[in-house]
Amino acid sequence: MQSNSLEGKLVSQSKTVMTEMIMPNDTNPMGNLMGGYLMRWMDIACAVCAARHCGSQVATASVDHISFHEPIKLGDVITLTATVTRAFNTSVEIYVEVSAAEITGANPRQSNHAYFTFVAIDKSTGKPMKVPSVIPLTNDEKKQFEVASRRRELRLILAGKIKPEEATELRSFFNEIDKIKFPV
Ligand SMILES: CC(C)(COP(=O)(O)OP(=O)(O)OC[C@H]1O[C@@H](n2cnc3c(N)ncnc32)[C@H](O)[C@@H]1OP(=O)(O)O)[C@@H](O)C(=O)NCCC(=O)NCCS
Repeated sequence: MQSNSLEGKLVSQSKTVMTEMIMPNDTNPMGNLMGGYLMRWMDIACAVCAARHCGSQVATASVDHISFHEPIKLGDVITLTATVTRAFNTSVEIYVEVSAAEITGANPRQSNHAYFTFVAIDKSTGKPMKVPSVIPLTNDEKKQFEVASRRRELRLILAGKIKPEEATELRSFFNEIDKIKFPV
């Protein structure tokens, strides 16, 4: 059985930044980056971040909704920044943000973002293994950490892994919303 240190880790310890220049082979017939290539790079940046946090091999368990806001052009440079938001038992949630700019840095823009879930895999047994917790420090890190358990329940419901009635975090969230009196 593989053993990784289960001591909590800072978000900064696994932050992963990746830069790619869009080459002709990466584009569709309109000269824009193919969505599938971008998803591949997002998966790689997130996997590196997850493996750094977990101290083990990781497998992609799920990817949440991804939308493409505007085209990324041939010759543009993209930067992918992946950070761990929260660790659960054997899985971690990773947030990735993609920004694009011309090679000179001109016309910088946020392109898209997504949440990936990875499971730490024990090298010797091939089974999921426990992961270290995340220590959020900044306000953004704390916010991401807090809401991660709701996102997790939602994706597990959509994947058919848990029943809606088992979603305790979501239920208390909607109960809170229910108490809000909206003006009529
Ligand atoms: C992901 C995988 C390891 C989960 O294994 P499993 O036997 O279903 O394990 P479990 O049901 O015990 O779940 C293990 C963890 O995965 C999480 N998980 C399982 N399915 C998930 C999904 N669809 N979305 C998010 N998390 C999921 C569980 O919540 C659990 O996390 P926790 O321990 O932190 O609570 C397994 O389904 C697998 O190997 N899938 C293929 C992975 C792959 O090939 N990815 C692409 C290439 S890397």
